[in-house]
Amino acid sequence: MAEEPSREQGAVVTEAAPTGQPRPPQSAAAAPTRDLRPQLAMNDDGDDEIADVAVKIENVGLWYGAKKAIDGVSLDIPRNQITALIGPSGCGKSTLLRCINRMNELIPNVRIEGQVSLDGQPLYGPDVDPVQVRRIIGMVFQKPNPFPKSIYENVAFGARINGHRGDMDELVRKSLEQAALWDEVKDKLNQSGLALSGGQQQRLCIARALAVQPEVVLMDEPCSALDPIATQRIEDLMQELAADYTIVIVTHNMQQAARVSNRTAYMLAQQDLVGHLVEYGRTEQIFTSPQDPRTEDYITGRFG
Ligand SMILES: Nc1ncnc2c1ncn2[C@@H]1O[C@H](COP(=O)(O)OP(=O)(O)OP(=O)(O)O)[C@@H](O)[C@H]1O
Ligand SMILES: [Mg+2]
Repeated sequence: MAEEPSREQGAVVTEAAPTGQPRPPQSAAAAPTRDLRPQLAMNDDGDDEIADVAVKIENVGLWYGAKKAIDGVSLDIPRNQITALIGPSGCGKSTLLRCINRMNELIPNVRIEGQVSLDGQPLYGPDVDPVQVRRIIGMVFQKPNPFPKSIYENVAFGARINGHRGDMDELVRKSLEQAALWDEVKDKLNQSGLALSGGQQQRLCIARALAVQPEVVLMDEPCSALDPIATQRIEDLMQELAADYTIVIVTHNMQQAARVSNRTAYMLAQQDLVGHLVEYGRTEQIFTSPQDPRTEDYITGRFG
């Protein structure tokens, strides 16, 4: 993650939002055609309406130079839930994810249209500091990328830059606990983060992202470099983190999207069509009764 000094001017983004919103009661959803429920997120609220929107994406388009990569994407992301972005390679999932925390602006010649808001506050505006946006909306990448520093310093790094004034030992411990890594590393905090296994490195990167106390955590294929056991740990961890954070995950693994997410967005780019949103809904609905035949083709493996 590109870290920059972040106590600069101009941040309009607010403090973390309240957590633990009550879930609306189950509504009488249409009976699924195939019952995949054992594989689906257990906390499906059964409601097609999103009661509490954390991130609102409105008509977002993005060009890399002259090439448009995504077009007209609008999406409401619910607070304290897990939202999955799925779709074939090149459809713009990572691009859309990076629009949420303004990371695309680190790429030269990128142009973005539309708006993304967090808690009703626009993130694209003249008086918003993108560095502050990236602090409040953290990111975890496909390939674990710890810094060549100790485990302790990996976690403390961002908090130090942010001028954290509290007890740093406590923050490091809490972040590692939240990332389900503390027990494995508590006796070797001064060892290099690079000496950990791939799955441990990814949890270290999650701890590093959590240490700056974000509100939203974006994960771009966080398990694709991990074995099944490490993957399961990260999936379990995501479920736990959703109590406190809003999570958006990009995954190629349909089972993973079905297992962990509450809502799923299916994106597609075709020859003449720039990457766009085809369908978005409760994960159970997307996987059991998709409204668009292109979604059905993808989730049943006929396409992509
Ligand atoms: N830095 C970049 N410069 C130019 N074009 C880019 C850049 N990053 C992505 N693209 C293009 O934008 C489109 C969307 O790419 P993106 O990486 O968002 O897709 P994706 O859905 O994440 O794919 P994958 O599943 O393979 O990761 C692709 O056509 C890609 O070639
Ligand atoms: Mg990608």
